[in-house]
Amino acid sequence: MEYFDRYQGGERAILVSVNVQLLDDIDTEEFRLLAKSAGADILEHLSAQRIKPDPKLFIGSGKAEEIAEYVQSLEAELVIFDHALSPAQERNLEKILKCRVIDRTGLILDIFAQRARTHEGKLQVELAQLEHLSTRLVRGWTHLERQKGGIGLRGPGESQLETDRRLLRIRMGQLKDKLEKVRQTRLQGRAARQKAAVPTVSLVGYTNAGKSTLFNILADSEVYAADQLFATLDPTLRRLNWDGIGALVLADTVGFVRNLPHSLVESFKATLEETLEATLLLHVIDSSSPDMMEQIDAVESVLKEIGANVPTLRVYNKIDQSGEEAKIIYDKPHRPGRVYVSAHSKQGLDLLKKAVQECLMGQIQSFQVHLKPEYGKLRTQLYALNVIQSEHYDDEGNLDLLVTMAPHKLEQLIKQAHLPIDQILGEKAQQFKRPLEEFEIKR
Ligand code: GTP
Repeated sequence: MEYFDRYQGGERAILVSVNVQLLDDIDTEEFRLLAKSAGADILEHLSAQRIKPDPKLFIGSGKAEEIAEYVQSLEAELVIFDHALSPAQERNLEKILKCRVIDRTGLILDIFAQRARTHEGKLQVELAQLEHLSTRLVRGWTHLERQKGGIGLRGPGESQLETDRRLLRIRMGQLKDKLEKVRQTRLQGRAARQKAAVPTVSLVGYTNAGKSTLFNILADSEVYAADQLFATLDPTLRRLNWDGIGALVLADTVGFVRNLPHSLVESFKATLEETLEATLLLHVIDSSSPDMMEQIDAVESVLKEIGANVPTLRVYNKIDQSGEEAKIIYDKPHRPGRVYVSAHSKQGLDLLKKAVQECLMGQIQSFQVHLKPEYGKLRTQLYALNVIQSEHYDDEGNLDLLVTMAPHKLEQLIKQAHLPIDQILGEKAQQFKRPLEEFEIKR
C-alpha cells in the first residue's frame, strides 16, 4: 500500500481550465470568481485542450510538467482544476506538481465551508467534505486524530490508514446523527409556522448576489420578535411583522453556483427544504455582474432540479453599480415580477417591501372547496394548516369548506392526493390550468 502525505495548500493558487472535446465553451470568468470567493490569490490561469481526459492525470504529462514549472517559479501552494478529478488523478497530479491540488467540487465545498452560517449548514458542509475526502484518503489525516482524540482509539496492529478510515467513519456517523436531530427540530418549527399559516419568504440567489446583506437590512429594519423555535435553531430565519401582511418569516439560504456538483445538491437538500416550502421566493440577482444571465439560469436550473415550484420575485440588486433605476416591473396587474434595488445605497428597498406585500396578498385567496366523504384526508390536512374559515355538510355527507390560503399550496395538496381538482374547486380550478392563462395574457 502506498503512503504519501498530502500537501498543505495555501492561498497562492494557479487555476487550470481544460477545454475538453475542444468545444470552447468553458467559462473561465466564473471559475476565477469562484476561486476568488474561496479567498485564492490567483497567480496564473492556465488553459489546456484535450479531446478526452487522461485517466491518470486528466491533462497530458507534458502539460503537467509545464504547470509544475509555473508552480515552482511562482511559489504556488495550490493548483485548482475547474473539473471533477478522480482521487487517483488528484494524487498523481500532486506528485508531479508538488503542491496541493483540488478540483471543482473541493473548491465549491471550501466556499460553502466559509459561508455556512447556521449550525445545520456547518454540519452539512463538514459531512459533504468528509464524504468527498473519504474516497481520497491515502494518508495524512492526522488532524482528525487531533480533533477527535485518536489516541486510545487506535488498536494494536492497525495501520495508520485503517485508523484514519475508521475515525472518518465514526465522525461521519456522528455528523449524520446530529444533522437528523437538527432537521427534526427544524421540521417541528416549520410545522408550527404552517399551522399558524405564517408565510415564509425565502431569499435565494447566486453566490455573492447580496442575499445576506438584503436579509440583514430587511430583518434589522423591522422590530422582530425572536420566535423561540426558530431563533435558537437557525439564525437565518427571522420572524417579522409587516403592515398589511402580518407575521411572516424571512429565510436566508445557501448561495447557488453553476454546475453545482450533484453530490452537493444532495448534501444541501435539507437546507434547501426551506426554499421548497416557501410561500414566496426572492431570487436575488447581481445586476452589475457581466455574467448576470448565466447566473440567473444557474439558479433557476438548481431550483428546477430540487423541484421548487414556488412563486418567485426577481430582485435585481446592486443597481448602485449597474446604473439601473429603482423600480418595480409588473408581469400582470398587481403581480410584480421584478424589483430593482441596492442593498448598499438602500435605493428601492421601499419598493421591494411593497412588491413582497403585493405578491403575498395576491397569493392568499379564498376558495370554496367541495369534498366527497372519501376525501377526508384532505380536510384533515387543511385543518392542520388552520386555513378553514367555515364548513358544512350536505345531506349526502359531502363537505363544503371555505378556505383562505395560498393557491399553490392548495393545488399541491390536491395534486399530491391525486384528487380531481375540477370537482373539488369547480370554476376556480381554471386558474391552475396554466396554458390557458398564458393564452389569455397573449391576447
Ligand atoms: P453568498 O453568501 O455567497 O451566497 O453571498 P450573498 O448573496 O449572501 O452576498 P452577500 O450579501 O455576502 O454580498 C456579497 C458582496 O456584495 C458583499 O461584498 C456585499 O457588500 C456586496 N453587496 C451586497 N449588496 C450590494 C449592493 O447593493 N451594491 C454593491 N455595490 N455591493 C453590494
